[in-house]
Amino acid sequence: MNIIKFDSEAKLNEAAARIITGIVQTNPSAVLGLATGGTPVGIYKQLVHDYNEGLVSFKKVTTFNLDEYVGLAPDHHQSYSYYMRENLFNHVDVDASRTNIPSGLASDLGEECSRYDQLIQAAGRIDIQLLGLGHNGHIGFNEPEEELSSGTHVVDLAEETKQANARFFSEGEQVPSQAITMGVGTILKAKTLLLVVKGKDKAEIVKRALTGPITTDVPASLLQTHPQLTVLVDQAAGSLLP
Ligand code: PGA
Repeated sequence: MNIIKFDSEAKLNEAAARIITGIVQTNPSAVLGLATGGTPVGIYKQLVHDYNEGLVSFKKVTTFNLDEYVGLAPDHHQSYSYYMRENLFNHVDVDASRTNIPSGLASDLGEECSRYDQLIQAAGRIDIQLLGLGHNGHIGFNEPEEELSSGTHVVDLAEETKQANARFFSEGEQVPSQAITMGVGTILKAKTLLLVVKGKDKAEIVKRALTGPITTDVPASLLQTHPQLTVLVDQAAGSLLP
């Protein structure tokens, strides 16, 4: 595990983007696992910047997002499909037909999960999976449970997660109570994992995840088992790490 601390958010975002662009420069057809939430916004801005500078092309990449809310249409302003278009896809040369996000509107959610797993399998291995960290230690939307699922599945979102994400929704709007998420098994199969954690409010959980026991109570602790894990933290999030 490689933990790198940054004294500015700009430097952290640049470093994360450099790792991703490096992979795409080496392999233009790379398979990218992408994340949403507040954490990656600045990283995507940096990727768009790098694209505009002519440093990288996403023309041949395939992307798989970690998760999507159940019940939100792709044009809903809080769907992760919308988020990805707004923050990255609309601003680079990625081929929309090679971007993949589970459909939260599928009439048969179980079938949608199988379809997503088959797509990931058909693409081969995810070359790099970008990850944020939930306050309860979730990765993707794999919430703390006695048992974690390996493949894509439907989850009931933890109260803590709904509260944390309410900040993105308009007043009076409900945060969906379920999501489809890639499973921990799929995440751990990625060739490289890039965990990005920002802010003092995540200092304790990132310490537990990276230095505590490996337990399904803290799904991110399973990342300790991955041979190619890079963790980028700002000073605040990394303040309790060795
Ligand atoms: P955040 O979410 O980046 O909005 O803090 C991270 C997560 O829940 O995975």
